[in-house]
Amino acid sequence: MNLERYSHLLDLNGLSYDANWKSSLQKKLEAVFSKTSHGHFPKWQSAVNQLTIANSTHYNFDTPIVEIGKANDLTDQQSEIILQALNSLQPWRKGPFSFFGTHIDSEWCCDKKWQRIQNYLPSLKDKTILDVGCGNGYYILRMLGDGAKYVIGVDPTLVFLAQYYGLVQCIDRDINAHLLPIPFEDLPTQLDQFDCVFSMGVLYHRRDPLEHLKRLYQHTLTGGTVLIETLVIDIKESAQLIPQDRYAGMRNVWSVPSPSLVQSWLYESGYEDIQLHNIQTTQLEEQRATQWMQNYSLVNFLNPNDHSKTIEGHPAPTRAIFSAHRPQ
Ligand SMILES: C[S@@+](CC[C@H](N)C(=O)[O-])C[C@H]1O[C@@H](n2cnc3c(N)ncnc32)[C@H](O)[C@@H]1O
Repeated sequence: MNLERYSHLLDLNGLSYDANWKSSLQKKLEAVFSKTSHGHFPKWQSAVNQLTIANSTHYNFDTPIVEIGKANDLTDQQSEIILQALNSLQPWRKGPFSFFGTHIDSEWCCDKKWQRIQNYLPSLKDKTILDVGCGNGYYILRMLGDGAKYVIGVDPTLVFLAQYYGLVQCIDRDINAHLLPIPFEDLPTQLDQFDCVFSMGVLYHRRDPLEHLKRLYQHTLTGGTVLIETLVIDIKESAQLIPQDRYAGMRNVWSVPSPSLVQSWLYESGYEDIQLHNIQTTQLEEQRATQWMQNYSLVNFLNPNDHSKTIEGHPAPTRAIFSAHRPQ
């Protein structure tokens, strides 16, 4: 995994942006790909290189298990190498995937979230999409499966970059998507050009959620849609839970808002047609440890005697889906 090999990360053909930003992106990517100081990066690079032995033109992105390659594309020996390489890219938090017949049963069954979200989405056919905090790109691929013209994901976490390119490198010339390993805040300030902007599982991690929503707005085309999925506290009032320490074991949860507070933040950010579509407490079947993510998972962060509470005594993780439009 090196920058020369991934120089197409800079060919963001579907986007129009300032030339100065392109050179600043080049510098940022050079810095990312020279992160040999990151303890696991060499291991991930070598796993991604090993995965290049897999070659196929077969993929299927519109099914719950995202499928790339088929088992019979590989010899038994190649399958063994692939299995080891995929294992060294653990933890697989997002998925599921089937990679040349190996079923990556990730911690999260992201197909369940995507199914909920699909109910409220405008058609993605021929749309240009930004997915902020895209993880390993599971949803990028599902968006392509739903007919999107072009998808850009941004996520600075390197293991997710390695997982994404490990999976798609055998087909990535054919697919119209990029995962940029940079923080969202490093995008040019006002792209104004995505038909649909997604922020799923990100808002409660932001120290300034209102600023996050305003930034999403700046990247949305006028008349375009923003789709927010976030942890909420399921109460009627406009309020937020600010955890003093952890929330369900997570250190970086700054604020868990109520749905009406999210709606007023969206309003304040300039959106119209703000809709709350769905509120659901996360089920243990949707987030659980598997052989591909062997650390603690949701069940370990709930009160063992009362699953309606976290181990810290907060309401158990509950997520809501909102959509809104940037006015014409
Ligand atoms: C809870 S995960 C959500 C992943 C995915 N969107 C989903 O809904 O399953 C939050 C993601 O945000 C990413 N993230 C953290 N800081 C970020 C930033 N400044 N810009 C973009 N993504 C960020 C993390 O690496 C992580 O993948």
